[in-house]
Amino acid sequence: MANMLVIGNWKMNGSRKSNAELLSKALAPMERLNHVDIAVCPPFVYLEQLANLVVKSHILLGAQNLSQAEHGAFTGEISGSMIRDLGCHFVLVGHSERRSLFGETNELVAAKFQSALRDGLVPVLCVGETLAQRQSEKTLEIVDAQLRAVIDEVGIERVGQGVIAYEPVWAIGTGETATPAQAQEVHRHIREYLAQFDAEVARTTRILYGGSVKGDNAFDLFSQLDIDGGLVGGASLDASSFVAICEAAQACTN
Ligand code: PGA
Repeated sequence: MANMLVIGNWKMNGSRKSNAELLSKALAPMERLNHVDIAVCPPFVYLEQLANLVVKSHILLGAQNLSQAEHGAFTGEISGSMIRDLGCHFVLVGHSERRSLFGETNELVAAKFQSALRDGLVPVLCVGETLAQRQSEKTLEIVDAQLRAVIDEVGIERVGQGVIAYEPVWAIGTGETATPAQAQEVHRHIREYLAQFDAEVARTTRILYGGSVKGDNAFDLFSQLDIDGGLVGGASLDASSFVAICEAAQACTN
């Protein structure tokens, strides 16, 4: 079985000073966790600083977004090859904040997923429903449509080269976590949905849970059958919380 995976999404937070402080506290304890894959996704401008800070560790680096275009006249955009050039392994694609605040559609997200693979990155495809969608019992339908757009664009085998993160929008940054049973239900559904296209991809693709993951709820979430780790926002900005979450992942791997 693949290692559990924990990815810290710093969003638009950090400074050169606070990044260095965070890493100086978290690096040694994270290094002791050899059965969990760990990555951090700082803002673009700090990727190079982070690449230097993690260079001797097994901590991987990711970006929070990428352009679907390869290069050219796209002022303010950052391409996958640039991200790769700085040493990134992962890139988040279709985070709910990108979808809701920056108008990213399922089609655009699929194009970005494709570009990430083209540039040698591992895309982390974020899917999840809003509160209104959950209340009107549309959760599974919404998640299926988000997955389907990417399957149609790249094919099921290439979906399996990425990671999926189920992040119910109502649980992101709200302190309200999906219960382990609620999360497991959607994770199992995602695996069953993928299995309609390819059983092997369904079995091997890592599916992370995101949405108010904290040190004290991580173990219960990660010990669910179809949850392979976490995508962590707020708690990844605090060294001891992030380490506690990574330790919970290691405990579930063992
Ligand atoms: P949160 O964010 O852990 O702060 O809820 C998760 C995410 O947006 O990836």
